[in-house]
Amino acid sequence: MKILVLAGGISTERDVSFVSGRCVYEALLRKGHQVIMADAYLGLPGSYTDIPCSELFGRDINWTEHIEGISETAPDLDSIKAMRDPSYKGFLGPGIVELCREADVVFIALHGENGENGKLQAYLDLEGITYTGTDYISSAICMNKQLSKELLAYNGIPVPRGRVIRRGEDRTNTVGLPCVVKVCGGGSSVGVYICHDSAEYDRAVDEAFMLDDNVIVEEYIGGREFSVCVTDWEGEPKALPIIEIAPTGEFYDYKCKYQEGATVETCPADLPDAKAAQMSAYAERGFAALKLHSYARLDFLMRDTDAGLYCLEANTLPGMTPMSLVPQEARACGIEFDDLCEKIVKYALRED
Ligand SMILES: Nc1ncnc2c1ncn2[C@@H]1O[C@H](COP(=O)(O)OP(=O)(O)O)[C@@H](O)[C@H]1O
Ligand SMILES: [Mg+2]
Repeated sequence: MKILVLAGGISTERDVSFVSGRCVYEALLRKGHQVIMADAYLGLPGSYTDIPCSELFGRDINWTEHIEGISETAPDLDSIKAMRDPSYKGFLGPGIVELCREADVVFIALHGENGENGKLQAYLDLEGITYTGTDYISSAICMNKQLSKELLAYNGIPVPRGRVIRRGEDRTNTVGLPCVVKVCGGGSSVGVYICHDSAEYDRAVDEAFMLDDNVIVEEYIGGREFSVCVTDWEGEPKALPIIEIAPTGEFYDYKCKYQEGATVETCPADLPDAKAAQMSAYAERGFAALKLHSYARLDFLMRDTDAGLYCLEANTLPGMTPMSLVPQEARACGIEFDDLCEKIVKYALRED
């Protein structure tokens, strides 16, 4: 099968996406497919742009050669933008549209913004191109934390109490302290602030508005953090084993998420059976409420004081390295990483 793995892009999660992309690319190669991995934003490396895409898939090229490793800080997107031929105005760089059309399926290994917000999915739908993961509408809903919280709450899944402030609106803290301020459309904990006093709150709101026009303020839930992958590969939404993420810092921030050893992850999580069942049920109901398909990862907090569960968000394109949360959950129920990648491809093609 001809598979194009799209990674990189131009979000703050660009570097992380390359790590996912490389792992997926190598897994699908091991499965015997003809695989190309490309940076969605910068496009094909210059040396390949003159070769017809139909020929590129069969060639013995190491597509990961040009991709750098992951840094501790979010990438400098302006310098990436400056690297591209300015005649390209959109998200997709040189050669990408042609490669997508040539592939049997596009494996979306992008994270954040374009790639995860549904626009790419909608574009691929219009072009009649098959892609992995959920569809455009659920992607768009999940990219908006407020909208997804409202849909979750409407369907009986508990979420932290809070409100959204639009740019220019009164920003008085009506939630109380401590609270969490976060951008409505962010990811990777970029633009998430825990505020203990009103000075921290003011600063957090200022900083969040530099990143987004809508800022969420919600109650701080002190407790343990979990993640649940849900799939509908067999029809109905089904939760994989729950994973607990215990960060070593105050919360799960950018560095912590992507540096080895910064968190302790336990799968299956050490939870009483009834709690685990409740969280899995919320995750499955949440998956349906958000109109998700294929696979997604829903994040939960369990409050220390009363063991109350709260759903924080759903991630439609979660990390896909063998050590990422979803692959760990899959492994806990007997699905190895390479098989997981192929399952995702086969679901996209609706093959068994
Ligand atoms: N209401 C909250 N109470 C306590 N911690 C929170 C809350 N909201 C977010 N966090 C912490 O911040 C992290 C990132 O927040 P999240 O809403 O998941 O945004 P992102 O899209 O950046 O992952 C969470 O994994 C959690 O550790
Ligand atoms: Mg999160």
